[in-house]
Amino acid sequence: MVQRPLQSETKPIIEVCLTPALWYQFDYKDKNVVVIDIIRATSTIAAALHHGVKKMIPVEHVEDAEKYKNGSYVLAGERDGIKIPHFHHGNSPFEFMGDDVRGKTVIHTTTNGTRCVLMAKGARNIVAGAFTNQDAVISWIRKENRNTILFCAGWHDHYVMDDALFAGAVVRELVEEFRIVDDATLSAKLLYRYVRENMLRTVKQATHFKRLQRLGIENDIKFCMSNPQFDVVPIFDGEGFVKL
Ligand code: MLT
Repeated sequence: MVQRPLQSETKPIIEVCLTPALWYQFDYKDKNVVVIDIIRATSTIAAALHHGVKKMIPVEHVEDAEKYKNGSYVLAGERDGIKIPHFHHGNSPFEFMGDDVRGKTVIHTTTNGTRCVLMAKGARNIVAGAFTNQDAVISWIRKENRNTILFCAGWHDHYVMDDALFAGAVVRELVEEFRIVDDATLSAKLLYRYVRENMLRTVKQATHFKRLQRLGIENDIKFCMSNPQFDVVPIFDGEGFVKL
């Protein structure tokens, strides 16, 4: 007799990749991928599209971005959190909320976040997730109802807590509709449950926070850990992130 799957086995799977160093373990080709770089790349992408930036094109190297230097593009990015000196903007979400970037295409290169977008190329869909657009991203994942990977950008291939906390927040919301099949995903969910009332206080103890705090970007960090709920799902169209 043919065994019918249990009803729960028909649910899609949600997985968390805790650092880019583990990405090789994921079979992502037919899955949706949510790239997460809370401090700050994906928070910045969400803020930019919400405030009227037309497209955010991720590129890996500073030299790749420089090829777009012809007056029609805004060049933006950082290395190790520090603005690339000859670029128009760094990677602060506040730099992408004004008239100077509205309607423009931004070439965006960051140390970890934009690299992960390029690593996920070939996935069914790639979207950018952050606390700032959490509800919109969760609704999109729910509506898609397909196997999904939450891809944490970390820091130079290392785990960082703020990315895992956001992944955990998403998993927690979707736990009834998706299956958890690995301990990284379960751990992210439990971490979020444990610290969700004191997220900023917890993240302030993290090495990633201390590293970036030294750069004087504490306001950015507070913003990236907050929930303004921009109703935007930045989706990668093969070239860059646009508003869905
Ligand atoms: C990254 O991509 O590494 C980050 O967004 C770094 C930053 O905070 O600017």
